[in-house]
Amino acid sequence: MKEFDGKVALVTGGGSGIGRATALAFAREGAQVVIGNRNVQRGEETVSMIRDAGGTASFQRTDVLNAAEIEALVNHAIAEYGRLDVAFNNAGTEGDTKPTLVDQTEANFDAVMGINVKGVWLSMKYEIPRMLEQGGGAIVNCASVAGIIGFPGIGIYVASKHAVIGLTKTAALEYSAQGIRINAVNPAVIDTEMVDRLTDGMNMKKDDLTAFHPIGRIGRVEEVAEAVLWLCSDKSSFVTGHSLLVDGGFTAR
Ligand SMILES: NC(=O)c1ccc[n+]([C@@H]2O[C@H](COP(=O)([O-])OP(=O)(O)OC[C@H]3O[C@@H](n4cnc5c(N)ncnc54)[C@H](O)[C@@H]3O)[C@@H](O)[C@H]2O)c1
Repeated sequence: MKEFDGKVALVTGGGSGIGRATALAFAREGAQVVIGNRNVQRGEETVSMIRDAGGTASFQRTDVLNAAEIEALVNHAIAEYGRLDVAFNNAGTEGDTKPTLVDQTEANFDAVMGINVKGVWLSMKYEIPRMLEQGGGAIVNCASVAGIIGFPGIGIYVASKHAVIGLTKTAALEYSAQGIRINAVNPAVIDTEMVDRLTDGMNMKKDDLTAFHPIGRIGRVEEVAEAVLWLCSDKSSFVTGHSLLVDGGFTAR
């Protein structure tokens, strides 16, 4: 018996990086996986990877900025597999890197806050009622170490991830008594395309980021996926409103 046998898992931003790794891990552990992603080709690639490994998955194009598309994604999960047990609200963007927040633009503010904050709120808005109908569920929102400390150059991203933690705590207070546990995961630097873009934008090499992590390296997507699966599993049955650091000691200083 696998941990997520008979369960349906939804992953936003499942077309690459942490979202893809988590979708693959859910499927490996028996879940039927629904992937929402803005980029169709990448989302469908993840579905193929899951099916090639013997798992079950389905894709629905979803821009998390669009309420109707998120509602349709949740409805797609119900239509395909009959229920929704767990959700990883992972879609996110780093936005523009600028020397300081004085240099940031309104357009970047709206884009980053829209995808990272409104996207997480809308995802929960449509996931929670479905979970309530079936008596419970578990949600993990993707925050970041940038949700608890500041980072020069990406102030809007930092604000957005602080907001994700605020939404997570509030949702946990509102719905834990009704059987839905809601937590966040806070990765430090994880080897993904997002970090490639960030380091390019800052004229840095990925290796320059190793020193921030007392563990001596940056993280792997699978290491975040395992934390998300634990938070979504019955093994974390008394954990809610929590933000779990997956940061190699980054914030322990
Ligand atoms: N990589 C890191 O170091 C790191 C650290 C902390 C937190 N995070 C967070 O992890 C999450 C995943 O990032 P990643 O590192 O895997 O990067 P990534 O760029 O590989 O993945 C982001 C995914 O989100 C999707 N996406 C972006 N905007 C979208 C939208 N409007 N609607 C639907 N999908 C959209 C992209 O298509 C992509 O598949 C993000 O929320 C990010 O902020 C990443």
